[in-house]
Amino acid sequence: MSWHICGKLDRVNAIWLLFSREIGMDVFRIEGPVRLSGTVTVNGSKNASLPIMAAAVLTPGKSVLKGAPQLSDISVFSQLLTDIGCKVATGPNGDISIDSTTIGKPVGEYDIVRRMRAGICILGPLLARMGKAEVSMPGGCAIGYRPVDIHLRGLRELGAQINLENGYIVADARRGLRGGEIFLGGPFGSTVLGTANIMMAATLTKGTTVIESAACEPEIADLANCLNTMGAKITGIGSPRLTIEGVKELKPFEYEVIPDRIEAGTFMAAAVITRGCLHIHNCRLKDLMAAVALLRGIGVTVEAENTGCIVACSGKTRPADITTQPHPGFPTDLQAQFMALLALAEGNSVIIEKIFPDRFMHVAELSRMAADLRKEGSTVIVSGVNKLIAAPVMASDLRASAALVLAGLAAEGTTIINRVYHIDRGYEKIEERLNPVGAKITRESD
Ligand code: EPZ
Repeated sequence: MSWHICGKLDRVNAIWLLFSREIGMDVFRIEGPVRLSGTVTVNGSKNASLPIMAAAVLTPGKSVLKGAPQLSDISVFSQLLTDIGCKVATGPNGDISIDSTTIGKPVGEYDIVRRMRAGICILGPLLARMGKAEVSMPGGCAIGYRPVDIHLRGLRELGAQINLENGYIVADARRGLRGGEIFLGGPFGSTVLGTANIMMAATLTKGTTVIESAACEPEIADLANCLNTMGAKITGIGSPRLTIEGVKELKPFEYEVIPDRIEAGTFMAAAVITRGCLHIHNCRLKDLMAAVALLRGIGVTVEAENTGCIVACSGKTRPADITTQPHPGFPTDLQAQFMALLALAEGNSVIIEKIFPDRFMHVAELSRMAADLRKEGSTVIVSGVNKLIAAPVMASDLRASAALVLAGLAAEGTTIINRVYHIDRGYEKIEERLNPVGAKITRESD
């Protein structure tokens, strides 16, 4: 890059590129502002695919998951299953087959679980199938403190012995698990993966288990529906009270995962922040009612279409207040993306993060792009500005990095996003999905 063509901003970008380039770490270069227009298609749900892959462990035989997205988290989960003895293969059409006939080592290694917390959800299936399991405690996370105490409480109530040794959860249920009434609520409401773990373990448990304050997320409903195709007896799906009648054995599944509602919500936010118009295919509005109601409330058009919806926004939006809650409330996984779009609204918005009170790594980065944000504890006041200005920024976690991409689409100039691997965890080749509808995103790899 020759100096004489660099303006002051480009010189900063150039220096950033020079020094921030971490070996092997992709960087996004985003030209803005753009207006998105056209059709995008939503992939299968990451957060439904991961626990469903764990469900394959419940029974010997070959299960097939259809429609799972090709993401680094899915590959890491495949590695975790391979590690315990499963044979995992991805077909030419993306179908993932998991043969769990042989489970040689019921151990979820630290090196894998530390990279992907969802690894914790092999604990329940392994315990139910093998009568014992060792799974690494997940460890730290950029979005805040994320204990697994409720998972362990639930498994203990099913009769498991649980100890912590060298950073590993050592679970023993060789005398078998027994059904019972389990309250799974916590300080922030229900737990998604906690519900997944207990529900899966309960499918092979003697007697009937009732989970009270179960998570109602569509991903949990999808997992329950998949388990029922395997021969499980689960009722109350989609409600906070799940009843699971234990069965002796299950059979492998062949199951198509639901669309990714968080990816769909991210595309909606992309249409709004660029004042564009997107047809979003393979999107279920019923899974996103809180976000849709908010968008309509700030003056955005959101209309259902045969396999999805149309989202259109022609000018400045009104402000709005957001409080994140368990489903069907406003999803915490859309908080960052909606903060980016409200940064360009007409007026002040208040965002309260009730699920992960520290989930604000994007605030400092969006402020670098001239967003006017004031953070107080787990509340951020967003004062709408007329424009965002491009800058070099750093991705810190999956959804924060999605918010930075959206801000880059709307900002004036060239935004450089470092550590793009965060976004690859949850969005499959996002630049190849958005560039055809008007984005100008270049991935630069070392
Ligand atoms: C799932 O994480 C999702 N991950 C997260 O999405 C999502 O943000 C979260 O649910 C909330 O919707 C997957 O599905 C793989 P929780 P999970 O247990 O299950 C507290 C993304 O961006 N808690 O529902 O780990 C916890 O600290 C990811 O795709 C306990 O206190 O979240 C949090 O404050 C990020 N003790 C709250 O409950 C426990 O034992 C909700 O967490 C468990 C949780």
